[in-house]
Amino acid sequence: MTNQGVPARLLLNRMEILNASKKIVITGASSGLGKAMAESLLERGYEVWGTSRRLDRLPQRPRFHPVVLDLESDCSIAEAAEQIEREAGSIAILINNAGNGVFGAMESFPIEAWDQQWRVLVRGPYFFLRQMLPLLRKNKSATVIQVTSLAARFPIPMMGPYSMGKAALSTLTQSLQIESENGQIRFIDLQPGDIQSDFNQAMAISEALNQREKSILEKIEADMRSAPDSKIVTEAVIQIIEGKDYPPRIAVGDLFQSKIAPILLRLVPRSWLNWGIRKYYGI
Ligand SMILES: NC(=O)c1ccc[n+]([C@@H]2O[C@H](COP(=O)([O-])OP(=O)(O)OC[C@H]3O[C@@H](n4cnc5c(N)ncnc54)[C@H](OP(=O)(O)O)[C@@H]3O)[C@@H](O)[C@H]2O)c1
Repeated sequence: MTNQGVPARLLLNRMEILNASKKIVITGASSGLGKAMAESLLERGYEVWGTSRRLDRLPQRPRFHPVVLDLESDCSIAEAAEQIEREAGSIAILINNAGNGVFGAMESFPIEAWDQQWRVLVRGPYFFLRQMLPLLRKNKSATVIQVTSLAARFPIPMMGPYSMGKAALSTLTQSLQIESENGQIRFIDLQPGDIQSDFNQAMAISEALNQREKSILEKIEADMRSAPDSKIVTEAVIQIIEGKDYPPRIAVGDLFQSKIAPILLRLVPRSWLNWGIRKYYGI
């Protein structure tokens, strides 16, 4: 039983009915955060269009509509947008979540890998968002959640282009917040810290690593293993979607990453922070 003695299942049924008409697009719904968001939003009654580069990585479930999307390809983005327009007509929420990382030193990062990171983290999400805007504008009010990263504010060593890409997506979101005329579309910059997912397994390594680089990678992998699970991100997403007021930028993660680190950023000189980051990663 829950509040006022109403059984939880009955409350959920009511919520499912209320949310049934709400159409949501989630990019990168085949694993990690995107998959967890899709599952939890489906449970709450929403209708979800979820993307992957491969159809066989997406579930077959009622109210889930699989879409093929490769953010590196303009053609794939246009085809995905056409399919969503044809099937959904309009959408209330877009969660720009898909992304990946390439590990490598800034001084020798291969330019092709740099281009790839820019396409997946910035150009692709921007182009896809542009295609989705007319569908979002068909609603009286709509929400766009851009999944950036705390790395936008705290660059991760050996993940320079990833951190740059997330910072660019974060600034892009701020530009949209400022330019958005009547607030018909809310743009939210959601910045996760370390959250357990398949991100590290999918991460490409740009070249053979030396001992120092290997130990940085090990530290990154250890952090991911002890990170909170995706539930805290899905809970934040539900609050953004179903709550009324929400800050335009929100950090989600463990206590240090989501609360203490952003305060340090305001109070502590950058040189001290850089020293702390170097120490933390054993550089
Ligand atoms: N986990 C963390 O600690 C963390 C922290 C901060 C920010 N983030 C951000 O959260 C988002 C989700 O990451 P995750 O941790 O859930 O990682 P994940 O488990 O590796 O999931 C990444 C998702 O993105 C999709 N994707 C990857 N490359 C793509 C491309 N070129 N085109 C289209 N889709 C692509 C993948 O789909 P397919 O491979 O099936 O195509 C997959 O569904 C990313 O933007 C990531 O940067 C994660």
